[in-house]
Amino acid sequence: MQQLKGQSALVTGANSGIGKAVAESLASAGANVVINYVSDPDSAQQMVTNIKAAGGNAIAIKADVSKEDQVHDMFQKMFDTFGTIDILVNNAGIQKDSPFVDMTLDQWMAVINVNLTGYFLCAREAAREFLRRGIVKDRSVAAGKIICMSSVHERIPWAGHVNYASSKGGIMMFSKSLSQELAPHHIRVNAIGPGAIRTPINKSAWDTQESLDRLLTLIPYGRIGEPEDIGKAAVWLASDESDYVNGITLFVDGGMLLYPGFSTNG
Ligand code: BGC
Repeated sequence: MQQLKGQSALVTGANSGIGKAVAESLASAGANVVINYVSDPDSAQQMVTNIKAAGGNAIAIKADVSKEDQVHDMFQKMFDTFGTIDILVNNAGIQKDSPFVDMTLDQWMAVINVNLTGYFLCAREAAREFLRRGIVKDRSVAAGKIICMSSVHERIPWAGHVNYASSKGGIMMFSKSLSQELAPHHIRVNAIGPGAIRTPINKSAWDTQESLDRLLTLIPYGRIGEPEDIGKAAVWLASDESDYVNGITLFVDGGMLLYPGFSTNG
């Protein structure tokens, strides 16, 4: 089903992990996709080749989402190629883990700059274009959709990851406040809260049987998530199927938020 036919989507941090699966899922749903990346241009280019070979349409654009001028130029390139934007997936995110007392200002700022300021800069460009253009009835009943990749850690505190958890808590309020502000213009803003998904960012949590077994004690559903689990959720949130869904975080976590420790205690 090509629910997103004729729409144009930008996915930040799209050449690996969750972003890659989201970009590929949006492309198979018919969207023209911008694959934003900051390093490893070959993997971004390979995705473009694969998407085109499957009959889709994509371009790769390099930009550091925490830099205002680079974000601005990326959107201009997108508009030159696809004319406009219908769907923004704010996804680019990093971890710089450290015990709190050893955390450097650089580790703190790097995470906040990419995970939070990057979302602000990209959402602002997208929202300006949505407002300028308005609804295009044969594409979508909404004037635009923004999806913010949050985490279960917008809710679950995470020792040793204070910068990351703070950024995700920030994304939660960013997304909800923006949703409240833009909803009257028929722009929808929602978040996805992935749990543990098999990607490079958390490789050490699943790449040995021992670490995977430990991880699975936190997941009632008994399996690690795959990037495609998030890709499917993103297609739904971007499509008119979810038109009445505004300002939520859709947790896709196999039940990680269900306080699994209480299944045998308490
Ligand atoms: C983090 C992963 C972690 C997962 C569940 C994600 O937001 O990026 O490293 O495995 O949350 O704790």
